[in-house]
Amino acid sequence: MLRWLDAQRIVIATVDMIMNESNQLKKKKRASAAKSEVKQSKVLNIVDSLSHEHVLTEQLLNAMQEQVDNLNKKNDVDYPLLSHMLHYFNDYPDKYHHPREDLLFQRLLKRAPRYIGDIKELEAQHVDLHNDCEYLLVLIKNTKPENTAAIRKLTVHLQDYIDFYRMHMHIEESRVFLAIKKELLDGDWIWVDKMLELGADPLFGEEILASYQDVSEYIDNISLECDLQIEPAGYGWSFIFRSIKVLGSGLRETRRVVRLRSKIGWSGNKLSIKRAFGNSEVDQVSELPQKIFRRSIMHIKEGTADINAIVKSTNQRLVRPSEKLENWREIRRK
Ligand SMILES: [Fe+2]
Ligand SMILES: [Fe+2]
Repeated sequence: MLRWLDAQRIVIATVDMIMNESNQLKKKKRASAAKSEVKQSKVLNIVDSLSHEHVLTEQLLNAMQEQVDNLNKKNDVDYPLLSHMLHYFNDYPDKYHHPREDLLFQRLLKRAPRYIGDIKELEAQHVDLHNDCEYLLVLIKNTKPENTAAIRKLTVHLQDYIDFYRMHMHIEESRVFLAIKKELLDGDWIWVDKMLELGADPLFGEEILASYQDVSEYIDNISLECDLQIEPAGYGWSFIFRSIKVLGSGLRETRRVVRLRSKIGWSGNKLSIKRAFGNSEVDQVSELPQKIFRRSIMHIKEGTADINAIVKSTNQRLVRPSEKLENWREIRRK
């Protein structure tokens, strides 16, 4: 009898022990799942909010591009609006967006030192973007609309700023953000979260600052026009004719840029060329054709990939905004 009771106790104790261990294991699994959820949500919160801000910045750059196009075409330009756009870059991205990225870059450098090239480049670009913005604000303040040479200089530098900003965001999105998502550990996310300094966005945030009201309204109008750029896809002869037309306007645009740039001379172009080629030294004019050729191929590849992605995902194709806008105005008139 005693033996039977002992055996029963041993069985119960063993079952208890197994149950305990299994519970401990479950607890550990739950804790690690919770930790990984924390990591996931931090990744989503921090990196995705930066990516979302890139989309908003792209909208602002599109709006700025419209004004630069007006400068090029000698149409009316809203100088206070341009100045407010530039002030915003100083007010929000330079103060809150770039410092957040710099924190992530620091941690990525710790975890994956092989990204040092991209990171050092991006950090230097943050400083350049800030300095360029300050320079442009002074330039725009001192530019008289009747001074053709000054307008030309302003146009080139504004265009450089827009192109440089786009290239900067492209490097972040295509190379570094992906690496950050992959390489950073839980501790890094907690550290970054602690160090973050968040500020209210005065243009795209909940409350729009009075001085950015005009920029906000302008962007809304541009977005409306952009929405109208897409129509059902179609191939065949019309597609070929349209492509030839687009190619023709592209060549005309290139000619115009070359003419404009030749007027500001080698020294005026040197800084922007250096930057466009990732700060590699370009001291000899003879090096340019090869570098320009390589860069053009890269742009064509990126542009084609983007267009293909749009066509594939929407089964739609792009049309000239002015054409579509005319149709839209006609519909509204009826
Ligand atoms: Fe950045
Ligand atoms: Fe960024």
